[in-house]
Amino acid sequence: MDDLRDKYIDLIGAAGDEATLEDLRVQAVGKKGEISLKMRELGKMSPEERQIMGPKLNALKDEINAALAAKKAGLADAALNERLKAEWLDVTLPGRGRRSGTIHPVSQVWEECTAIFADMGFAVAEGPQIETDWYNFDALNIPGHHPARAEMDTFYMHRAEGDERAPNVLRTHTSPVQIRSMEAGGAPTRIICPGRVYRADYDQTHTPMFHQVEGLAIDKDISMANLKWVLEEFFSAYFGTAVKTRFRASHFPFTEPSAEVDIQCQWKDGSVKVGEGDDWLEVLGSGMVHPKVLRAGGIDPDVWQGFAFGMGIDRIAMLKYGIPDLRAFFDSDLRWLRNYGFASLDVPTIRGGLSR
Ligand code: PHE
Repeated sequence: MDDLRDKYIDLIGAAGDEATLEDLRVQAVGKKGEISLKMRELGKMSPEERQIMGPKLNALKDEINAALAAKKAGLADAALNERLKAEWLDVTLPGRGRRSGTIHPVSQVWEECTAIFADMGFAVAEGPQIETDWYNFDALNIPGHHPARAEMDTFYMHRAEGDERAPNVLRTHTSPVQIRSMEAGGAPTRIICPGRVYRADYDQTHTPMFHQVEGLAIDKDISMANLKWVLEEFFSAYFGTAVKTRFRASHFPFTEPSAEVDIQCQWKDGSVKVGEGDDWLEVLGSGMVHPKVLRAGGIDPDVWQGFAFGMGIDRIAMLKYGIPDLRAFFDSDLRWLRNYGFASLDVPTIRGGLSR
């Protein structure tokens, strides 16, 4: 029995993992283990022998079980210590900074325009970027043979073969939204429509897609004077300084009379400063809505009249934020976006306030 004891105590002591330990348990005290077999022999002994051997064998079994349990706990502790060492982590190390995205200048200026015109009672209207040629041209008094159609460098959509209807177009301006919102809301109305427009043109100041904001105000007694006031209010709020405007007689098929509007500016060392000096910069087209356009929108021109204007959002973004090349707006160059982009919590800057 002493040999048996020494053998198992040594083996248990040397066991390196739980699987070995389990094998040893089966060998020693399992059902057919060495010690269990010895206990079975008790039945063949005389009562006297049994009285001595019984307790001894029980004690041996208890000792082996205790050694197994102690070794098992020891192995678990060692494993835990290994894990703790391997999974150690320095929570005092500084974190890795994460870049956050920026608001694109077009989005920023879009919001600024919306906020300033909202203050003057203009609601935001929207229309599709793929337009029928009726909304983009005919309803705006630009018939099929009119040179304005050719001048606009229009992108035409395909029609299915055999479909003889006039092709749809990528809208060349936001003016079709005038018609759509007159149809939808009638008169009086006061809306702006910021949105994407498309023309086949590409150089430092032209990209095939760009942004305009259309304005439309219809009531019974709206005049060019209201147009001029609204635009001067807008530019002064937008540029944060009093900005004079200059109206030059012009021609658009959808307005009569028509005016191109310049804002006061000064060129200094190759960059432009708005609101001072005596240079002028063209920023928009405008005029009194043509009676035919009112009629196309379902509004009676004998009762209602009003003004409309269309302005380049990208263009006024370039002017306010000193961005030299329009094409870079749409290159998605991260360095450009980080440089000219705005933090997401920058509220639209409407400095100067309105003069009312
Ligand atoms: N639609 C014109 C353009 O794209 C601008 C404009 C709008 C002119 C409304 C007059 C009235 O150039």
